[in-house]
Amino acid sequence: MSKPAEIIVIGGGIVGLSIALELHWRGLAVQILTRSNAEAAAWSAAGMLAPQAEEIPPSALLDFCLWSRNLYQDWTNKLSAITGLDTGYWECGIVAPRYRPNGLDRSDWQPIKELQTHLPHLKFSSEVAGGFWFAADGQVDNRALYQALQAAARLANIEIITDIEVQALERTGQSIDRLTTNQGDFRASHYVLATGAWSQQLLPIPVVPRKGQLIALQVPDVCNLPLETVLFGEEVYIVPRRAGRIVIGATSENVGFQPGNTSIGIQGLLAKATRLCPQLAAYPIQECWWGFRPATSDEQPILGASAYSNLTLATGHYRNGILLAPATAQLIADVVTNSVATGHQHLLDNFSYQRFAPPELSPNPHAVQLCRSASA
Ligand code: GLY
Repeated sequence: MSKPAEIIVIGGGIVGLSIALELHWRGLAVQILTRSNAEAAAWSAAGMLAPQAEEIPPSALLDFCLWSRNLYQDWTNKLSAITGLDTGYWECGIVAPRYRPNGLDRSDWQPIKELQTHLPHLKFSSEVAGGFWFAADGQVDNRALYQALQAAARLANIEIITDIEVQALERTGQSIDRLTTNQGDFRASHYVLATGAWSQQLLPIPVVPRKGQLIALQVPDVCNLPLETVLFGEEVYIVPRRAGRIVIGATSENVGFQPGNTSIGIQGLLAKATRLCPQLAAYPIQECWWGFRPATSDEQPILGASAYSNLTLATGHYRNGILLAPATAQLIADVVTNSVATGHQHLLDNFSYQRFAPPELSPNPHAVQLCRSASA
């Protein structure tokens, strides 16, 4: 039997599930409300753990990404021990090839001959001049991870209510009184908003969808994997799974929530991938899909306090939601339990919603409603 919820997490994507589990592991009673598991960005990502390949400049975001990458091994081991499921966590390293030798001044530049040694079975095109090798970056199979998180939540008796539409956060003064939904009202002492690209539907925070299309190829002979490291090219990334699937991503489109794969999107990904590794041209196509990254104007997440005393924000992870899941879970659980380490306060200061201009923060009367009993 689950206990009545002390905390409701709104959003059952990878961020919401990770936070809910961490709160549960710290002894709190948690409930998750999720509109649709199929919408989760976790389902549609490629699973790269790539703070270095993404070339995030020295910043709070880089600190946060590196912290999270360091948590990954223990976190996924724990999830596998609880559930018996493999998350596909793989410290495979990431090769970042470049078409022009525009990194010669860097001490870690590798000319093509050296770079090619990381890919013994797949040849770069002759256009590649060299590049970089990031040994500590890697990948997780985001779909397998998502399933492991869901299984761990179920085994922990965390109640996950699906197909539920949270319609409004009803407030009394400066705190949230209850959630109104298409399945009635829900109350808890604290709420966590982890609704990704859909966050603006509930709160006036500047998170917008940024569509990404992806495609997967099938390796013809799974006993002989041609690629055992991620390739993070200048125009495309290529992520090989151990089971012989090769994920290629991703477009970045400002088209709102427009669904579907487009021929130009898929054609572009294939052209860029085969430009980098011509051998891929012969591989069969396995799947095409798309998803919506939750983007903010400065491409950094929104974490921590909100304008309401009992509402914590965990959204806007943009390109790094999978990578940032374990550190987000730790940091948000610290916020909720008032136990933020001094060394992590700068992250919350940096990722505060208050960094955005006031017009974007003024209450949206359609989403956040005054509690009727309080206003009467
Ligand atoms: N993390 C890579 C992407 O969002 O495309």
